Amino acid sequence: MNVVVSIGGSVLIPGFADDRVEEHAAVIEELADDGCSIGAVVGGGRIAREYIAAAREIGANEIELDTIGIDVTRLNARLLIAALGESVAPAPPETYEHAGEVLRNGDVCVMGGVAPAQTTDAVSAALAEYVNADLLVYATSVPGVFDADPQEDDDAERFDRITASELVNVIADIEMTAGSSAPVDLLAAKIIERSGMRTIVLDGTEPERITSAVRYGDHEGTDVIPEGVGDEPTYWAENER
Ligand code: UTP
Repeated sequence: MNVVVSIGGSVLIPGFADDRVEEHAAVIEELADDGCSIGAVVGGGRIAREYIAAAREIGANEIELDTIGIDVTRLNARLLIAALGESVAPAPPETYEHAGEVLRNGDVCVMGGVAPAQTTDAVSAALAEYVNADLLVYATSVPGVFDADPQEDDDAERFDRITASELVNVIADIEMTAGSSAPVDLLAAKIIERSGMRTIVLDGTEPERITSAVRYGDHEGTDVIPEGVGDEPTYWAENER
């Protein structure tokens, strides 16, 4: 099974004192040992935000800020690479072609950002589309897709499942609210929609949840099921039986 896992920066590195990087590495190793092909895309988290704020203060323009953000995502990717064993590409690929080559060679691929004016949410969806992944998993700090921003609205309800075009509409509505935090951004949602990619959005603060979702389809997040895909299982164990 080909899986792309998107790991939010704040989920991977809530702080350097946490063991989260090693826990995520352990999950990737478990799935790779199962025989999954794993592409991981890592976000920038707090460190990226702090660098971007400092550079904005100094007068950097938006493209320069994005480039700094990309550098931090790649630095975070290197931290995850350092925690993985030998079957991982030693540096984060900077293009989808290179990432695809790493995966075709049977190695784990860990990458960060690719180009300005987007986030790693979109990179994850694009990588999944490029390598024709069976499943895309977003391990985020928001435990699924909600009908409103759960941090702003106590009545926000989580969807167990949603179609890709419903996802686009929900994210577009959430992003209309300034300062709101959507579980994935609109560009990512649009790529998921056009590619028909099976996607799961889940709480990545406990990395083991990724293993259960990929192996057994067992999770408490949201299944994004593109139109026409029906009830085919998302998961590895059933597919291999
Ligand atoms: P993130 O993917 O972590 O962005 O990349 P984010 O969604 O804003 O961060 P979280 O998930 O809320 O923590 C960090 C920054 O790096 C730049 C953007 O500026 C982004 O905000 N970036 C990242 C790019 O410009 N291009 C990329 O391909 C990736």
